[in-house]
Amino acid sequence: MRVATLTTSAFFAMQLISTAEDIAITTRSTALVVRINDGQNPRIVHFGKRLAHQEEYAKLPDQPRSTEDYTGLYNSAYTPAGSRNLLEPAIQAIHADGNPSLDLRYVSHESIQGPDTITTEIHLKDPAYPFQVTLFYKAYQDEDLIEQWSVIHHDEPSSVKLEKYASANLTISAANYYLTQFHGDWAKEMQPQESKLTAGIKVLDSKLGTRADLFQPPSFLISLNQPAAEDTGEVIAGTLAWTGNFKMDFEVDPLGELRLIAGINPYASEYVLDPGVDFKTPSFIYTYSSEGKGLASRNLHQWARKHRIPHGEGNRLTLLNNWEATYFDFDEKKLEDLFADGKKLGVDLFLLDDGWFGNKYPRNGDNAGLGDWQENQKKIPNGIGNLIQKSAEAGIKFGIWIEPEMVNPKSELFENHPDWVVMLPNRVPYYFRNQLVLDLSNPEVRKFVHDTVDQLLTEHPDIAYIKWDCNAVIYNAWSPTLKHQGNFYVDFVNGFYEITSDLRKKHPDIPMMLCSGGGGRVDYGALNDFTEFWPSDNTDALERVFLQWNYSYFFPSIATCAHITEWGKQPLKYRTDVAMMGKLGYDIVVSEMSPDDLKFSQEALATYAKIKDVIWHGDLYRLASPYENDFASLSYVSPGKDRAIWFNYLVNNRYQKGSDRAIKLKGLNPEATYQITEINLYPGKSSALDPSANQFSGDYLMTVGYNPKVNADRSSVILQLEAAK
Ligand code: GLA
Repeated sequence: MRVATLTTSAFFAMQLISTAEDIAITTRSTALVVRINDGQNPRIVHFGKRLAHQEEYAKLPDQPRSTEDYTGLYNSAYTPAGSRNLLEPAIQAIHADGNPSLDLRYVSHESIQGPDTITTEIHLKDPAYPFQVTLFYKAYQDEDLIEQWSVIHHDEPSSVKLEKYASANLTISAANYYLTQFHGDWAKEMQPQESKLTAGIKVLDSKLGTRADLFQPPSFLISLNQPAAEDTGEVIAGTLAWTGNFKMDFEVDPLGELRLIAGINPYASEYVLDPGVDFKTPSFIYTYSSEGKGLASRNLHQWARKHRIPHGEGNRLTLLNNWEATYFDFDEKKLEDLFADGKKLGVDLFLLDDGWFGNKYPRNGDNAGLGDWQENQKKIPNGIGNLIQKSAEAGIKFGIWIEPEMVNPKSELFENHPDWVVMLPNRVPYYFRNQLVLDLSNPEVRKFVHDTVDQLLTEHPDIAYIKWDCNAVIYNAWSPTLKHQGNFYVDFVNGFYEITSDLRKKHPDIPMMLCSGGGGRVDYGALNDFTEFWPSDNTDALERVFLQWNYSYFFPSIATCAHITEWGKQPLKYRTDVAMMGKLGYDIVVSEMSPDDLKFSQEALATYAKIKDVIWHGDLYRLASPYENDFASLSYVSPGKDRAIWFNYLVNNRYQKGSDRAIKLKGLNPEATYQITEINLYPGKSSALDPSANQFSGDYLMTVGYNPKVNADRSSVILQLEAAK
């Protein structure tokens, strides 16, 4: 017998559940409908636009195609392995008695209404074993976004082995499916590739352990029926909130439906689950858009700012970083000069990078010192406290780099605690950037990592920023202390979260950059506790146009660090304009700037202070793709649509290419009249735009457009649109 349990607070949500048979998980515009059939099997019968008449969910066929499903499970909401299933499972377990089969039948469900969300729990149970799974669907109403996770629990006489334990299992129905995935490597992150899915399984995964998405991030787009377009068509954007090994199976099943299974990678991770313990999977986050990639991104951005990233709707600091200016070679005098340079430039904060620590094994290169978090007596004999004081005297805040999860074999930490390091006892160690990873599955190690950062922040409450780096992957995975090695990769990441969430609770306001020698660690698991991320070590502004474009599918600009450096061949104006579309910073030698470059940068920072509100909190509209045009064009529109900041970058000037036509704006108020002004001009340069033709209605700009006149002489152009009051 099916029992639908509903809490009192869920009274309102109850009305959203159309019948006892169909559980409709709805947002403002979308619905995911789980049907419970006579055999109590939960099956997905609809995912897409919400129906206008909810009683019509009952008319949905059990499966969209007329051919036969030999198992009754193809569109299961959480496919169990080993019983009658024939396709890719979401969960696979070996029971305490050695039986390798699972069956999961509906028991009950309930929905809880929050201020902006409705969370539906569907309880499933194996009829033959005390083994339960609860599927959680948290539906964010305004953002049309669902956060889904599962909790696995059993009360068998002894432990159960989990062979696979996905977060989510969806069935998506269309004539064809186009997957946009992203791949790369150091300094080449987030390169998109779109392909039509064919029958069988396409897998996106990572086995790197820590910086899991160096090669491939856990974020993708699925477009239904046709390749993904910016403003039209059905697109699903998905991302797994997990800073570790992940696996996503895209299976076009024998019926032609797309089965999507996303979760932790079960590779080398047979998880031993003791009785009575809840195993909570990470969240799979997805949004359905019937207006292309653009709306899917805006849904994700709004959700991230409002519900996920700490201070996502708040402020961020501009900064001057010394990494590319000094590398490991600095002393107090040099740093004090840099504080003054940062102040002169006009940034909020100076960020001291790698190299400030280690004494027995000084950190003068990347081969020693990691793990020994004591100030280096030669470089900074008067300590961090003195640097903070000196920076305050210079009128600038102070931030610091740390890589607390890592260790160089040449360190006192390694000498004292070799058992704290991830290493196989009988294998020759293999290094990534001369370093190894600390074993965060070990509580003692977690305490060390936590306390290292906590003490730094507690002893120096004026530290205003942390850059948290992570430069190695895991080789030779093995915890010297863990009982079940299969639990290692999972416990490692959960250990990382235990540390960062505790630090976030204790230091709620500290901005923390999630860095990983490039875009190796960008996901909404870590972004629970980190305020921003480092997309790539590649700061060549031309490359950054593409990189930041691709990150923008999933992550908002307020979290996307973009620094002006000496990388690449673009002029300073171009580099600055590109950094302005994200969270701007500098990593250059200010003292070597020409007077004009310095003046331009000082003015740029003053301009940025006036427009950052729109860039960080506004809605992103991608207007012209650098993959399809000789330029890229994108704009941020303020929530009230009274202002927009419009960025344009030349990406190819063969045959003197540029923007030779008007570009249509998006997201404006058609009724408003906008004044267009070119901003962030280099000293001595005037705008090429006609000042007598700079007022247009939103309707005109969205229908006809406007030419920002991007060309080789004006390789980047920023325009401000202000609605007349
Ligand atoms: C990584 C980071 C850089 C810098 C160095 C320091 O490569 O991405 O920005 O902090 O580490 O070693």
